[in-house]
Amino acid sequence: MKLGTALTPNSTKAMLLGSGELGKELVISLQRFGVEVIAVDRYAHAPAHAVAHRFYVVDMTDGEALKAVIAKEKPHFIIPEIEALATNVLAEIEAQGDCTIVPNARAIQLTMNREGIRTLAAETLQIPTSRYAFAESFDELQKAVKNGIGYPCFIKPTMSSSGKGQSMVKTADELQTAWDYAKNSGRVDTGKVIVEGKIDFEFEITLLTVRALNEKGEVETYFCEPIGHIQENGDYRESWQPQRMTAQAIMNSQAIAKKITDAMGGLGLFGVELFISGDEVWFSEVSPRPHDTGMVTLLTQTQTEFDLHARAILGLPVNTTLKSAGASAVILSPIDAHGVSYHGLGRALSVPNTDVRLFGKPDAFVNRRMGVALAIADSADTARKNAAHAAKEVVITTD
Ligand SMILES: Nc1ncnc2c1ncn2[C@@H]1O[C@H](COP(=O)(O)OP(=O)(O)OP(=O)(O)O)[C@@H](O)[C@H]1O
Ligand SMILES: [Mg+2]
Repeated sequence: MKLGTALTPNSTKAMLLGSGELGKELVISLQRFGVEVIAVDRYAHAPAHAVAHRFYVVDMTDGEALKAVIAKEKPHFIIPEIEALATNVLAEIEAQGDCTIVPNARAIQLTMNREGIRTLAAETLQIPTSRYAFAESFDELQKAVKNGIGYPCFIKPTMSSSGKGQSMVKTADELQTAWDYAKNSGRVDTGKVIVEGKIDFEFEITLLTVRALNEKGEVETYFCEPIGHIQENGDYRESWQPQRMTAQAIMNSQAIAKKITDAMGGLGLFGVELFISGDEVWFSEVSPRPHDTGMVTLLTQTQTEFDLHARAILGLPVNTTLKSAGASAVILSPIDAHGVSYHGLGRALSVPNTDVRLFGKPDAFVNRRMGVALAIADSADTARKNAAHAAKEVVITTD
């Protein structure tokens, strides 16, 4: 792999579609190899805008607008960080052949819609998942629950992320509210919801899985140590690595991750979300990109999930070794405000072996993720306590 020099005619150019906190760390990893990075988001001064060579504000669901910025910059790599994209444009660009969509346009299209990825996993690949059905009307939803999905169940828009439009339903009288909520808060109204039977798992993990070239130039699959996490309202609050699990559960998890990432193809890091109970493993979903729960790797691994993604994309070798047990805890805003202040960082960073990342989002709103506290320790349990403690010390105010 040849790399050029940024801001000269032979530069290697990468364009990020979506410039959030995960994108910000990815830009830094790419910059370390001298890649010229262009960060695109729907609003100005998004986290990755602050560290890229150039940035654009574009509505990326608008195919023409997306095409225009790609045509202007002519990147070698397009790296989607979000799901709300005009993915047909990506397929078109890929077909022209001078630009790599990471990992590829089909994987981006499959994962932006729960129907695509669930059907691939459960039906084509025969991977264990929750019971599920799709419904296009309230009537269909009622029938699906009655005829096999049962209660409790989860209702989700087919196109949504971070728990948006998602609810758990325990009884029949809650179904209408869940239907209305899913229909009204999906990213794009596909007219469809997915209903999933609730899996009674012991814990859930993200298995970061990397498809990268080995020394022979062949694609090989590498796994990070499993990351355990806690979700609230469909959004992550805490993660830790390694999550302790049985040898059989690890084998099953890796086999599922290998199957699903093989089916997606391309080079890059994937976040495979799995539910675990004893030796048993169910597939939930997969991100063809770094995962929010994987921010813990900023301290725990020799190569963070962002380094791994950057290296895999560039065709470079990767190393998924765990350096230390660790944890992350999110720092959420308690207020709606523009240009907030952060207090208590001194106290937060006085907790042993911790670090804090503030994302620099210009606008805060209630429960928006503004930063993350990270900790390493002898055990994931101690790291969890310390990360949570450090996160709590950071206070967000309007002044
Ligand atoms: N079928 C299920 N059984 C049990 N728990 C579930 C099920 N579906 C979702 N959950 C819980 O809700 C969380 C969020 O679900 P899911 O990952 O599908 O939503 P999402 O909107 O894609 O979230 P994100 O984008 O943050 O990953 C899961 O991590 C899990 O804790
Ligand atoms: Mg998820």
